[in-house]
Amino acid sequence: MIPMKKILVTGGAGFIGSAVLRQFLNETDCHVVNVDKLTYAGNLQSLASVSDSPRYAFEKVDICDAAEVARVFREHQPDALMHLAAESHVDRSISGPAEFIQTNIFGTYTLLEAARNHWNNLEGDKKADFRFHHISTDEVYGSLGDEGFFTEDTAYKPNSPYSASKASSDHLVRAWHHSYGLPVVTTNCSNNYGPYHFPEKLIPLVILNAVNGKPLPIYGKGDNIRDWLYVDDHARALRLVLEKGTLGETYNIGGRNEKTNLEVVQTICAILDELRPQGAPHSQLITYVTDRPGHDMRYAIDASKIANDLGWKPLETFDTGLRKTVQWYLSNTDWVQGVTSGDYQNWVQQNYTNRSAT
Ligand code: NAD
Ligand code: TYD
Repeated sequence: MIPMKKILVTGGAGFIGSAVLRQFLNETDCHVVNVDKLTYAGNLQSLASVSDSPRYAFEKVDICDAAEVARVFREHQPDALMHLAAESHVDRSISGPAEFIQTNIFGTYTLLEAARNHWNNLEGDKKADFRFHHISTDEVYGSLGDEGFFTEDTAYKPNSPYSASKASSDHLVRAWHHSYGLPVVTTNCSNNYGPYHFPEKLIPLVILNAVNGKPLPIYGKGDNIRDWLYVDDHARALRLVLEKGTLGETYNIGGRNEKTNLEVVQTICAILDELRPQGAPHSQLITYVTDRPGHDMRYAIDASKIANDLGWKPLETFDTGLRKTVQWYLSNTDWVQGVTSGDYQNWVQQNYTNRSAT
C-alpha cells in the first residue's frame, strides 16, 4: 500500500473527528481536509491547536449537498475518506428525527456516490489504495441483557432513530462495496468520552453541572450500562483500520470498560471532591429524572477482532481517562465558556464564510 497523503475527514469539527484531525496533524505527515457543515455540534475552536498547519484545509460543506461534495473531491483529490459527520445525540433523535434521517442516511448516500465517481476516475495504485472508511456505533446492534457482547456477527436491531439511521448508513456502505466494488471499511465503536465533548452527553454534562452546583440528571435508576472508550484510543483505532483493515470488513472497537451510569456519575463526583473540595460532596447533586423512552439497557463490545487482526489495544483505562477528562474540563475554561455560551458559533461566523454562499 502507498502511504496515504491526503485524507478527507467529514465531521472533523465534532468530538471524535477533531481528535482524529489533531492526531493526523500532530503525529503524521498527512494532509487533511475537514468537511463539516458546523451544526451546533461542530466547533472549530476544538482544532485551534492544529488549524494553522499548512497540511490542514477546511471546507464548510453540508454532506447532503451533492454538488459541493463533488467539488470537494474534484479540488482536493483525496487518497481516502473517513466519514464521521453525523447527528449523534440519541435524545435529540427521539425529539426530532428528521435531521438524523437527512444527514446520517441521505448524507452518507451522497458521499458514497461522490466517492464512487472519484474512485472510478482514479488509476493504478491510487485506485487500488483508495479507502472509504465509515465510522459507526455499537448502538446498531440494539440492547444486551446481563450477559454477552456485541461481535461483528451480531444481528442489527437498532432501537432509537439515531441508531436506526446509523444502521441504515452501515447497510448503504456495505451495498456500495458489494454492488459497485467501492473499497470500504466500517467500524462500530462503543461510547466515547474525553476532551472537547459537547456537554449534552452524559460525561461532560455531569462534569460541568457538578462544577457549577447544578443537578446531575440520571435517567431512570441509573443502572443502564455503557462500555466507555477514551476518544484518543478510538482515533488511534480508526487510523489503524484505515491503514490496515481488510476491504469490505467491519471492526468493533471498545475498551471493555462496562459501567452503570450511576457508577460513572459517582466516579466523576469522587474525582471532583478531590480536585474541587469546596463543592464536596458533589454526589449530593445527583437527581433521578424520567427515563429516556426506549432506553437501551446495556452495550458491551467484543473487540477481539481488531486486537487479534490489527494489534490494537487501548492505552487508557477508565480511571486514567476519566481523570484526564475531568482535569481537561477544569483547565480549558475558554473552550467550555465558548460552548456553554454559544459563542463558538459567532466565532465561526466571524472567521469563516460559507464558500457555497460566496
Ligand atoms: P459530534 O456530534 O460531536 O460531531 C458531528 C460533526 O458532524 C459536527 O462537527 C457537525 O457539525 C458535523 N455534521 C453534522 N451534520 C453534518 C452535515 N450534514 N454535513 C457536514 N457535517 C455535518 O459527533 P461525534 O460524537 O464526534 O461522532 C462522530 C461519529 O462517530 C458519528 O458518525 C457517530 O455516529 C460516531 N460514533 C460516536 C460515538 C460517541 O460516543 N460519540 C461512538 C461511536 C460512534
Ligand atoms: P449519552 O451520553 O447520551 O450516550 P448514548 O445515549 O449514545 O449512550 O448517554 C449515556 C448514558 O447516560 C445513557 O444510558 C443515557 C444516560 N444519560 C443520563 O442518565 N443522564 C443524562 O443527562 C444523559 C445526557 C444521559
